[in-house]
Amino acid sequence: MTEGPETLEERDDGLRILRLRTPEEAAPFRSSFAGAYQDVFASPPYNERFYTSEAMGFLDSYLRTPDNITLLAVKGATRVVAFGIGVPAARRPDIVRELRGLVPLRSAFYLAELGVQEAWRGRGLGRRLIELRLELIDTQRFSLAMLRTSATRNAGYRMYLELGFEDMGVYMEVPARRLDGSVRTDRRLFLSRVLAGSRES
Ligand SMILES: CC(C)(COP(=O)(O)OP(=O)(O)OC[C@H]1O[C@@H](n2cnc3c(N)ncnc32)[C@H](O)[C@@H]1OP(=O)(O)O)[C@@H](O)C(=O)NCCC(=O)NCCS
Repeated sequence: MTEGPETLEERDDGLRILRLRTPEEAAPFRSSFAGAYQDVFASPPYNERFYTSEAMGFLDSYLRTPDNITLLAVKGATRVVAFGIGVPAARRPDIVRELRGLVPLRSAFYLAELGVQEAWRGRGLGRRLIELRLELIDTQRFSLAMLRTSATRNAGYRMYLELGFEDMGVYMEVPARRLDGSVRTDRRLFLSRVLAGSRES
């Protein structure tokens, strides 16, 4: 029998935070991850509609990206209630296109995804999934953490500022399929933070 993914934390509320390394390790969580991903981004300000196969494909694709950090908060054996994923910024062509010349992209780590199922919000899970990813980034290679959030500057935005991120004042229009089936863009804003322990801090 193969071992399951590494458990980083067991929380008082019964959730386990797991670090996944391979698509094979992720197999038992794929469909539940897809459900969580669909739920989280279906609500405002995103109103996005992802197919199950698309969301599963994202998970596989992140796990195949070298140096990814893929964390899931899981209830029971396989129920995914939250996710936090990051990859080197240089591995994301869309990010490279927007930020080339503005940011030292080879030294930047991109916090690509964060979501907590609505019923589990407000208990510190989102914050923890950010902190854990920041702790796991190799600061010998990466000096900057970056992310994109809604330009509506919502609760997520305030949370990132509290965690030491700065508003870069750089925006990007992100096209996505919306709940009504149309494809429209919404405006996102980049935030960044110098990593503690890196040579630049
Ligand atoms: C943003 C998100 C991940 C926060 O997750 P969470 O587990 O609720 O976050 P935490 O409990 O760690 O709270 C962090 C901060 O978020 C804010 N917050 C949390 N729950 C909130 C709620 N229900 N309503 C408003 N603000 C809330 C608070 O400012 C909180 O700070 P505090 O701890 O000082 O009170 C979650 O709301 C979410 O998945 N949103 C939809 C997807 C999204 O916006 N992702 C981020 C894209 S970059």
